[in-house]
Amino acid sequence: MLPVKATHALTFTIFQDNSIVSWCLLSQKVVKVKAWVARLGYDDFMSKLLDGKVAVVTGAGRGIGQATAELYAKHGAKIVIADIDDGPAGETLELVKAAGSDGVVVAGNICKREDCDNIIKAGMDLGGGSIDILANIAGITRDAVIHKMTEDEWDFVINVNLKGTYNMIQASVPAMRDAGKNEGSEAKSRSIINVSSTSGVKGNAGQINYASAKAGINGMTRTVAKEWARFNVRCNSIAPGFIETRLTSGPSDDPKLGVPDQQMQMIQMLYSQTGLQRPEGMGKPIDIANLALFFGSDLSSYVSGQVLVAAGAMIDTY
Ligand SMILES: NC(=O)c1ccc[n+]([C@@H]2O[C@H](COP(=O)([O-])OP(=O)(O)OC[C@H]3O[C@@H](n4cnc5c(N)ncnc54)[C@H](O)[C@@H]3O)[C@@H](O)[C@H]2O)c1
Repeated sequence: MLPVKATHALTFTIFQDNSIVSWCLLSQKVVKVKAWVARLGYDDFMSKLLDGKVAVVTGAGRGIGQATAELYAKHGAKIVIADIDDGPAGETLELVKAAGSDGVVVAGNICKREDCDNIIKAGMDLGGGSIDILANIAGITRDAVIHKMTEDEWDFVINVNLKGTYNMIQASVPAMRDAGKNEGSEAKSRSIINVSSTSGVKGNAGQINYASAKAGINGMTRTVAKEWARFNVRCNSIAPGFIETRLTSGPSDDPKLGVPDQQMQMIQMLYSQTGLQRPEGMGKPIDIANLALFFGSDLSSYVSGQVLVAAGAMIDTY
C-alpha cells in the first residue's frame, strides 16, 4: 500500500450509477479512485419546492386553478380549494389527495367579502395562524364590444375579476401582511399570485370589461408588492394568452363563456404564425400552473411586482 503524503483530486466525474471516479495525486503518483456517493437527485429537489407550506387557491375547481392546486400538492403544500362551485372543488380535493397531500374545500363567492374571510380562515387553521401562498385564480368573462355591452356585463366582470381579487388580498391581511409583520426580521417568505391576462396588457376587442379588470389587477399587484415588501410578502401577476379551459372552450352550463367562432379563427391564425408548436392547440392549464409554482416557491424569492406574460411566442401582439 502506498503511504499517503498528499491527496489532491485532479478531476472527477459522477456517473449514472452514482459512482464517482476521480484521478488523485497520491504520493506523487496519479491514481484512479472509484467510490459511490449518495446523490440528491434533481427530482427530489424539485419535488420539495413547497414542503410544509399552506396555499389558498381560488378558482381551484377547474382549469388553471385546478392544475395549480394539484401541482402545489405534488410539491408538498396543503391546499384550501376555494371555488364558487363545490362539486368541481371536491374533484380537485381528490386530485390533491392523489398527489400525496391534503386540503379542504371552501365553497365561496369571491365577490362577497364574508366568503373571502371564510376562505382565508380555513387557510389560517391549516397553517397555524398564517398562510404562505395566496393564488387568486378565479375569473370569468362576459364578452361584448363596448357599444353593445350592458351595465350588468360590465359590473359582473369587474366584480369577479377585479373586486374579487382585491377582496381576497384584503381578507388575507392577518394571514400574510400581519403575520410577516409579527415575525419581524425573521419573517417567512410569503407570496401572492394574481391572474391577469394578455387582454389586460395589450387590450382585446370585445373584452372592454375583462381587459379593464385584468389591467387593474396588474396595478393592484404592483401596489401590494410595494406596500407589503417589508413584511416579506411578494406579489406578482401572470398574464396568460389563450389556454384551453372552460373559459375559452365554452361550456354547456354557461353559454355566455367561450370565444366567438370569428375570434377563434383569428386566434388560430395568430397561433399558427407565432404560437409555440403545440400539436393539440393552444396553451394548457399546466403551462400557467408551472408559473404559479415559480412565483409561489422560493425560486422567485427576489421577484415582486412583476407581470409575466405567458402566451407562447406571441410577443409581437402586445
Ligand atoms: N383560459 C384562458 O385562456 C385565460 C387567459 C387569460 C387569463 N385567464 C384567467 O385565468 C383564470 C382561470 O381561468 P380558467 O381559464 O381556468 O377558467 P375556468 O372557468 O376553467 O376556471 C375558473 C374557476 O373560477 C371559478 N369562479 C368563477 N367565479 C367565481 C367566483 N365569483 N368566486 C369563486 N370562484 C369563482 C369557477 O367556478 C371556475 O371553477 C381566470 O382569472 C381567467 O380570467 C384565462
